[in-house]
Amino acid sequence: MEIQLEAQAYPAIEADALVTYVFDKEDKFDGVLGEIDRAMDGRLSSLAKSGELTAKPLETVLVHFPKGLAAQRLLLVGAGKPDKFAAEADLRKIAGTALRFLKSRGVKRIVFLTREGQQGPAAAQAVVEGLIVADFESDKYRTEKKNRAVDRVGLAGFDSGASVNQAIEAGRAIGESMNFARDMINEPSNKLTPKMLAARAEAMAKEAGLSIEILDERKIAELKMGALIGVAQGSVEPPRVIVVRYTPANPKPGAPVLGLVGKAVTFDTGGISIKPAANMEKMKYDMGGGATMLGAMRALAALKPSVPVIAVIPATENMPGGRAQKPGDVQTAMSGKTIEVINTDAEGRLILADAVFYARKLGCTHLIDAATLTGAIEVALSNVHVGAFGVPRDYLDKFLESAKAAGEKMWPMPMDEEYEEMIKSNIADIRNTGSGKGGGASTGAWFIKEFAEDTPWIHLDIASTCWVDEGRPWLAKGPTGIAMRSIVDFAMKM
Ligand code: BES
Ligand code: ZN
Ligand code: ZN
Repeated sequence: MEIQLEAQAYPAIEADALVTYVFDKEDKFDGVLGEIDRAMDGRLSSLAKSGELTAKPLETVLVHFPKGLAAQRLLLVGAGKPDKFAAEADLRKIAGTALRFLKSRGVKRIVFLTREGQQGPAAAQAVVEGLIVADFESDKYRTEKKNRAVDRVGLAGFDSGASVNQAIEAGRAIGESMNFARDMINEPSNKLTPKMLAARAEAMAKEAGLSIEILDERKIAELKMGALIGVAQGSVEPPRVIVVRYTPANPKPGAPVLGLVGKAVTFDTGGISIKPAANMEKMKYDMGGGATMLGAMRALAALKPSVPVIAVIPATENMPGGRAQKPGDVQTAMSGKTIEVINTDAEGRLILADAVFYARKLGCTHLIDAATLTGAIEVALSNVHVGAFGVPRDYLDKFLESAKAAGEKMWPMPMDEEYEEMIKSNIADIRNTGSGKGGGASTGAWFIKEFAEDTPWIHLDIASTCWVDEGRPWLAKGPTGIAMRSIVDFAMKM
């Protein structure tokens, strides 16, 4: 999909569809839409006055052969109440909704017309992100595809100049990196084993100009990553640890180093504590955290933050094989801590334990992990918010500001010491599940914190937000790519 700035006068824009947005109760138009309304001899205001155009958020009204415009169609997307309008977050959804609406009707050439107040680089970037993310489909393994594609999108009404052009490129890098992650999250486990995930990371790193190292099972054993090995030993597929590095052109001595750790269980059967059959197929997306971090690295390679960033992604299957670890087994993590494995299905925290510790060994001074860690986070936050844990609190608060800027809903979750009590073991240093009732997302977070120790650390539980069972007007059902934009924003501001 080609995306370019469009310079023609609005009524003269030639396209299969001209897209813009209108606010609730708006029936007089000036500025950008005034020009359109005048060219249409007031038909836009008549339509608004008729009441048919209610402008509810993301409602669509399609006008065919709009009189006075060169475009074949005029698509009006509802933007809701002007005082509730959150410029970037809403523009992303409006642009995405328009793309999916028009694409499903076979439209090929679109021009998106922005309005006053939303003409700068931030708005342009949001629109591009929204378009690219909306364009993603999960039809890779369909032999008969719909073959509907929007070939070209023009952006009209934006400021001209270098900063908007740069923003378009940034939006493209982020949108395409989200789709890169989403494509991997979609892959079934027979098409994406830990080895295949490592190969994809290698290809991405090469293309993006990042350095990469893949630790194989021998290196993992040499490093004594006992918690990861314990999970991996039940599978015939060997584990991998993927290490991707971004180094800025002029690294400042003593600068912080951001570590991005992502859970990549390419399939989670639960192991010996096996999961029920219903919905087990979904556990192919248990590598969503790892894919998110690989996507973030891909985007950062283009955006070039001023701090070094290292991604550490432990990849394994969780299988109930003859050599699988069993409930009650004790494993020694790379850090030396001993873990009583109460439930082999709480495997994410085990592999993150070694990955978080290894990231610190590599020199990371600040950590973020992302993981489809617990079903409990869905109980707490449904599929609305990502559960965001972290210490110290001001580090988490900074991150939540980035989440807000990126338009990704995240909610701060408690990290009180009572949860630490719940993961004390009778025979080892810690146990991998909470002993109390409830609080499953917090005890999971505390377990990981045991390995982050005093390094500022954030844990994003994306178990309920990484995948949606129902599509949204701006997003296909399936993998969402959640958390990547926040992480990228945070790294850029660091
Ligand atoms: N991968 C699952 C968590 C999950 C659940 C992700 C639903 C996506 C959707 C994780 O490994 C798991 O099984 N967690 C257990 C932990 C429990 C045994 C303490 C859970 O949440 O049930
Ligand atoms: Zn599990
Ligand atoms: Zn899991």
